[in-house]
Amino acid sequence: MVLSSSHRCSDLAATGSLAAAVAEHLKIGDVVLLDGPIGAGKTHFVSALAAALGSSDQVTSPTYTIMHYYEASAGQLLHVDAYRLSGIGEYRDLGMDELAPEAITAVEWGERVAGAHPEHLSLRFAFVAGDDDARSVTIKASGSRWQSVVGTTQEAT
Ligand SMILES: Nc1ncnc2c1ncn2[C@@H]1O[C@H](COP(=O)(O)OP(=O)(O)O)[C@@H](O)[C@H]1O
Ligand SMILES: [Mg+2]
Repeated sequence: MVLSSSHRCSDLAATGSLAAAVAEHLKIGDVVLLDGPIGAGKTHFVSALAAALGSSDQVTSPTYTIMHYYEASAGQLLHVDAYRLSGIGEYRDLGMDELAPEAITAVEWGERVAGAHPEHLSLRFAFVAGDDDARSVTIKASGSRWQSVVGTTQEAT
């Protein structure tokens, strides 16, 4: 079953609230894939996610390092940027798919590696025409694990 919800985040704080609502459901082994154009808010979302997960680590884009780890109360948050990866083969060659069971994983440009994580929550960020501060976010769930998460975030924002 695929379930989706759409959110309009009218400013940075609203995107942060959505991240906090998602964070409430996350546990070790979960994978969140983030997509959308450069500047759409993927890194900002991960930053708010890390804070909501109890991390005081500074979140920056792992565009060049490919991955960052942050210490959170629930365990480690693995932040990946797949932008510079040639594809899922390189992701697997680096052993990144094998790290996911030990952490909560958030992957920017996640669509590129979705095949390595059949069970995932997907978030698509888009600009809103005529409003520089707003973003639209569509959350998609596959399977019963993520169904309840989408249902609850729908109520939260
Ligand atoms: N509602 C919003 N949600 C997220 N980011 C926003 C929002 N409004 C404006 N922004 C700005 O958009 C930019 C998003 O950058 P970033 O999170 O690095 O995007 P990405 O990782 O998708 O390339 C930041 O400069 C942020 O301040
Ligand atoms: Mg980014």
